[in-house]
Amino acid sequence: MSNALAMAPPAQLCGVTTTEILPLKVRDIVLRFGGATVLDGLCLDLGPSGCTVVMGPNGAGKSLLLKLLHGLMQPTSGQIFWGGSAPRDVMARQALVFQKPVLLRRSVAANIDFVLKARHKDRALRDVWLDHVGLSHKASQPARLLSGGEAQRLALARALATDPEILFLDEPTASLDPASVLAIEHIVREARDSGVRIIFVTHDMGQARRMADDVVFLHRGRLVEHSPAADFFPQPHSSVARDHLNGRIVV
Ligand SMILES: Nc1ncnc2c1ncn2[C@@H]1O[C@H](COP(=O)(O)OP(=O)(O)OP(=O)(O)O)[C@@H](O)[C@H]1O
Ligand SMILES: [Mg+2]
Repeated sequence: MSNALAMAPPAQLCGVTTTEILPLKVRDIVLRFGGATVLDGLCLDLGPSGCTVVMGPNGAGKSLLLKLLHGLMQPTSGQIFWGGSAPRDVMARQALVFQKPVLLRRSVAANIDFVLKARHKDRALRDVWLDHVGLSHKASQPARLLSGGEAQRLALARALATDPEILFLDEPTASLDPASVLAIEHIVREARDSGVRIIFVTHDMGQARRMADDVVFLHRGRLVEHSPAADFFPQPHSSVARDHLNGRIVV
């Protein structure tokens, strides 16, 4: 791993806020597909900083919630406000990284160049970002030849190169080895510390404990609890969260 990961990202690269995008207010959102209600009356307030970890069993609605917050989907009813704006109106100020990185079939460097050009940013930032995620030595390689962990670091660098105020992560380390997991967490933590608001879905309990400032727990499309991490992990309020943390099957 490059020493670049040990240094904080240059302050001018991340989290520079122009107008307020936070707090986030989610009011009674419902999402239905045909007759199935997959998100059911969700209300949520998120403050201006930190890392919110979203947890819950498979099918609880975590990924759908991220897509609604990002503006990729519309709820059937209810409202979402980012500092008073609808998600679609602030999409460009947010970035989303999925479990499987979606990379351009070009070089590693070209993947960063692409977003810098699209956002009218200085092309010289490419080398800073590649260094930051320890991929400078792979710059001219085709991105498709990267390992899973390297590809995810590139996806993260590309997301951060857009200078997002909000970074959504949907199980970004689900198929990575322990060292790659920690490398990703390190980059995310630095982004958070530089002011990027993080919303992070994970099934990895250790990761949730390492990363969370607060925890949103979903079950069957409902928000069961939203607590500071320091309260949630030792003593979740709900029995479903307790069972989930203890590895018991939650139905
Ligand atoms: N386009 C769709 N049409 C119908 N049902 C859908 C659609 N997308 C998702 N769902 C359903 O909505 C529910 C929540 O899906 P979601 O992907 O948000 O779960 P999740 O909490 O992210 O689960 P996982 O931990 O497995 O990733 C699931 O039951 C899923 O089958
Ligand atoms: Mg999911």
